[in-house]
Amino acid sequence: MGLEVNDVTVRFGGHTALDNISLRALNGQITGLIGPNGAGKTTMFNVITGLQPPTRGSVTLDGRDISKLPPYRRARRGMARTFQRLELFGSLSVRENIHVAASEFRRRHRSAERAGPTTETLVERLGLTAVADVRADQLPTGQGRMVELARALACRPRVLLLDEPASGQDEAETAAFSRVLREVADDGVAVLLVEHDMDLVMSVCDELHVLDFGKKLAQGTCDQIQADPAVRAAYLGESDEDTEALGGS
Ligand SMILES: Nc1ncnc2c1ncn2[C@@H]1O[C@H](COP(=O)(O)OP(=O)(O)OP(=O)(O)O)[C@@H](O)[C@H]1O
Ligand SMILES: [Mg+2]
Repeated sequence: MGLEVNDVTVRFGGHTALDNISLRALNGQITGLIGPNGAGKTTMFNVITGLQPPTRGSVTLDGRDISKLPPYRRARRGMARTFQRLELFGSLSVRENIHVAASEFRRRHRSAERAGPTTETLVERLGLTAVADVRADQLPTGQGRMVELARALACRPRVLLLDEPASGQDEAETAAFSRVLREVADDGVAVLLVEHDMDLVMSVCDELHVLDFGKKLAQGTCDQIQADPAVRAAYLGESDEDTEALGGS
C-alpha cells in the first residue's frame, strides 16, 4: 500500500494543469514524477497534500480516501513534504528548525521519544553537524535542502513528497541525499520525487511517471522511460544534459 491518486483533474480557469492523472507511490519505493517545466508536478503535490482542491478525482493513503481532509490532517496521517522554494524558519538555527518538527511530532503523537536526541541523530545523518548552530537563512541552498529533508523526517512520515530537492545541491550533497532517500524508502516509506536532475532520478527511482502539459506521457521503469520515444521528444525542448541523462545521443 501507499499513496494513490485517482483520475485527478485540475483546471485553473481555462487552463488544464492536470488532465485525468492517476499514479501510485508504493511503500518502500521511490517513485519519480518528472516532466518539463509547467507539466503540473507541483500542482500534483499540492493536490496530494491538500493545498489545491482538484476539479475532479481523489487521493487515498493506505486505501483510505483522504480527499476531503485539510492539509494538517493529512500531515497527521504521515504525509510530509519539502518545497520547490525552500520553506525554512530563516531566523532559527539548523538545529532549531529540526527540533521544532521533532517536538511537534512528539507532542502530537504523545511519543515517549525525546525531541533532542531525534534532532541530533538527524543533524548527523544529514551531514549538518558543522552548521547546526547557523541560522537557516545563512545557509547555501544545498544545505538548506538537507535541513528541509531532516525536518520532514523528524515527522516520521509514511509518505514523503520531495519537490526538486537536488536543485542548488552540489554533486556530493546530491550523492548523500540519494543515500538517505534510499534508506528512508527501505524503512517502508513511500517516497514521491519531483526532480529535474536526471542522473539522480535514474539512479534512485524504482518507477517513473512522466507528465507533459498536464497529461500522463508515460509510466514505467527507468529503462522503459529512457527508451520511450514520446518522453525523449518531450525532453528535446529541454537542455541537452537532460536528454543525455535520459540516455539520448
Ligand atoms: N495557482 C495557479 N493558478 C493558475 N495557474 C497555475 C497555478 N498553479 C500552477 N499554474 C499553472 O499550471 C501549470 C503547471 O504548473 P506547475 O507549477 O504544477 O508545474 P511544474 O511541473 O511544477 O513546473 P516546474 O518544473 O517549472 O516547477 C503551469 O502552466 C502553471 O502556470
Ligand atoms: Mg514545480
